[in-house]
Order: sequence, then C-alpha cells, then structure tokens
Amino acid sequence: MVKLAIAVSGRGSNLKALAAGMASDCRFAPPIVVADKPCPALEWAEKQGLRTLLLPYRQSKEAAESALTRLLDNEQIDGLLLAGFMRLLSPAFVERYKERILNIHPSLLPKFKGAQALKDFWESDEKESGVSIHLVTAELDGGPLLAQEKVSRSNSFETFEEAIHAVEHQLYWPVAQAYFTR
Ligand code: GRF
Repeated sequence: MVKLAIAVSGRGSNLKALAAGMASDCRFAPPIVVADKPCPALEWAEKQGLRTLLLPYRQSKEAAESALTRLLDNEQIDGLLLAGFMRLLSPAFVERYKERILNIHPSLLPKFKGAQALKDFWESDEKESGVSIHLVTAELDGGPLLAQEKVSRSNSFETFEEAIHAVEHQLYWPVAQAYFTR
C-alpha cells in the first residue's frame, strides 16, 4: 500500500481533494496530515479521523523537521505532498526525501514563484497563468515539473482565483497518484 503524508498550513481545499482521491483508490492508505500551525485544514483532518501531527515550528525549524522525519521514517511513508504548506524545507530534509516530495503552486512556474503568485500574476501584463505540480528541491518553487495546466485571466480577481483552485483540485491527485504508482 502506498502511504503518503500531506503537509498543510491553511484552508485545506487541496487536502480535501487529495484525501478524496486516496479514499477512492484501494492502493493508497489514508493520509497522515501534518501542519506547521493550528489551521482549518488540520481541524478538518482531525474531524475525519485522520492521523495528524502539529509540527513544533514554534520551538524551531530543526525541531519541526526532526519530528516530521521521525514520523515519515517510523511510518515508512512513501511520499510527502505539500498542499498549501507555507514553510521552506531545509536542503538536508529535501535531500533525505529526494524525489519523494511534491508541491502544488498556483502559477505556470518558473513564472511567479513565492507566496504571492496569484496577486503577482494579476498585477502583471500576462494573459494567462495556471497551476504547476513539481518535485520539491531546496530552491523555492524550483524543482522539476510534473504537470502544468493553463488558466486564462478572467474579469475579476475573485473569478480567476476560483478558476485556479478548481484546476488545482482536479490536477493534484491524478498527478500524485500516477507518480507514486509508477
Ligand atoms: C493553493 O493555491 C496552493 O497552490 C498554494 O496554496 C494554496 C493552498 O490552498 N500552494 P488550500 O489550503 O489547499 O485551500
């Protein structure tokens, strides 16, 4: 059985889409959900009865990454899916789980890296943006791409943002599913 962990920091809409995908494929165990802080995504996971872990980032990044390493190793987790996780993992952590960490980013990377990708695109002259799924390396939003899907600029920022999230929710699970069953 493929065992994945999902790392979150916020709302958790991608977490919900991923968890639904995993529940529909008997090759996958229910995900373990980790968060860097208390957040709606972590609360939702607890309510679902999923195993969760609040990483001690308040103590230090080292403590948090050690706790995550222990969990991933003890549970023999095959991969880690970042789903709105707002922390940069250390080079040593990324190296340890090389090619086993995926991330979703709301732009056509390498354009608009960073936490403000939607706003940065909106304030640019570009006509289309999109969603990227990539392998995580030590460089922020910089690893090899696994999939991209375009989303056109729309009339308002709100409708554009909704369109981006709708694509995210359709794209992440099939890409992760194919990657970890290849
Ligand atoms: C998504 O737009 C994702 O691409 C970005 O952070 C957002 C997380 O949203 N990395 P949610 O918490 O999954 O709803």
